[in-house]
Amino acid sequence: MAGAQDLLDAGERLDAEALRELQLERLRASLRHAYERVPFYREAFDKAGVRPEDCTTLADLARFPFTTKGDLRANYPYGMFAVPQDRIRRIHASSGTTGRPTVVGYTDGDLSLWADMVARSIRAAGGRPGDTVHVAYGYGLFTGGLGAHYGAERLGCTVVPASGGMTARQVQLIQDLKPGIIMVTPSYMLTLLDEFERQGVDPRSTSLRVGIFGAEPWTEQMRQEIEGRFAIDAVDIYGLSEVIGPGVAQECVETKDGLHIWEDHFYPEIVDPITGEVLPDGEEGELVFTSLTKEAMPVIRYRTRDLTRLLPGTARVFRRMEKITGRSDDMVILRGVNLFPTQIEEIVLRTPGVAPHFQLHLTREGRLDALTVRAEARTDATRETRDAAARSIATAVKDSIGVTVAVEIVDPETLERSVGKIRRIVDLRG
Ligand code: DLL
Repeated sequence: MAGAQDLLDAGERLDAEALRELQLERLRASLRHAYERVPFYREAFDKAGVRPEDCTTLADLARFPFTTKGDLRANYPYGMFAVPQDRIRRIHASSGTTGRPTVVGYTDGDLSLWADMVARSIRAAGGRPGDTVHVAYGYGLFTGGLGAHYGAERLGCTVVPASGGMTARQVQLIQDLKPGIIMVTPSYMLTLLDEFERQGVDPRSTSLRVGIFGAEPWTEQMRQEIEGRFAIDAVDIYGLSEVIGPGVAQECVETKDGLHIWEDHFYPEIVDPITGEVLPDGEEGELVFTSLTKEAMPVIRYRTRDLTRLLPGTARVFRRMEKITGRSDDMVILRGVNLFPTQIEEIVLRTPGVAPHFQLHLTREGRLDALTVRAEARTDATRETRDAAARSIATAVKDSIGVTVAVEIVDPETLERSVGKIRRIVDLRG
């Protein structure tokens, strides 16, 4: 992409050493801000016997206590805020897929930072000022819609705030308004794909050239499926409301090799999910974030429960994270073997005759958990193809994950479609 380097902002142009210096300076300020303004952090630091000034290197961060989703819940709704209420300009909430929602707050400065980070993300994905961006993430308490919206405006794009749902109308809008970019969950993109086909429109013929997909895990196989069916570049965007929302990390379209973390504002660590010990870059574990510049709700060593690895930067100076394997909460333990829905996605999506739609049904047989993969047949699949697909999925799961699962190939268009974040696991254990 000619001239793409010229578009980088000041943070993206830092060299590695300047970045580390900036991070340390911001980290110390953020620790101080949290300690001085939030009783929760003051107590937690005091209990751990650390003070903000004890952080003299980036590695010293490991001496500070973790913050968990449980801590945010215990301080619901406003206990984690570090500024007076009249400086809070907006509230969002986590999607609550795992229990009660948690509330997050933003100052004017935080909203501006967030817009900058999403603008940076869209630009890394290949978006440019003047592009039209169709936002099909849900608007509301969820950070996806409004986060994408203000970022696209900040970059100088035209925004179509479609939000989620009303799928037939989405397809119409894409045909009429001719966006170059779509921002949506990958699972809802598949729902849109079905709708294009139902309306007799070739999905490869649209104006779309880039899709910015996140809010749920998705695999390389899903990228290939979406890129092939839509003739677009599909790139990954990551974020979580507790840290800011979408725009914490973004895959660059020129490399598509994992997500560069915007670590001039969000400092990542990988820890052992059980012991909490910090792991070296390259090892898989739980992603932990410390905000470096947030005002309303600084987070110190926030445990995301997302599993990934940190890798050196390529298209940017910032470190990358590999595509998320899954959340520790979504891990199924079957007869002692750990299994993530993304591992099943890889297998289902490369199996001939099967559509990219599947669910995992978890049941209990006696004292043991059992898993049934329910995958949908493609419309043109014959009975023989379907039987072969079922056998092939079962064998691949056994060979690559090491556990026996049942496989059911269900009729086309029978599994529930996503309008936002998809729920892969249906827990029927009672
Ligand atoms: O999902 C923010 C977001 C909106 C990100 C739109 C990207 C696009 P929450 O509702 O707080 O925020 O959920 C955060 O979603 O901890 C991950 O488990 C998961 N997640 C988000 N992005 C990705 C991704 C938004 N690219 C939780 N890959 C996170 C895998 C993701 N999982």
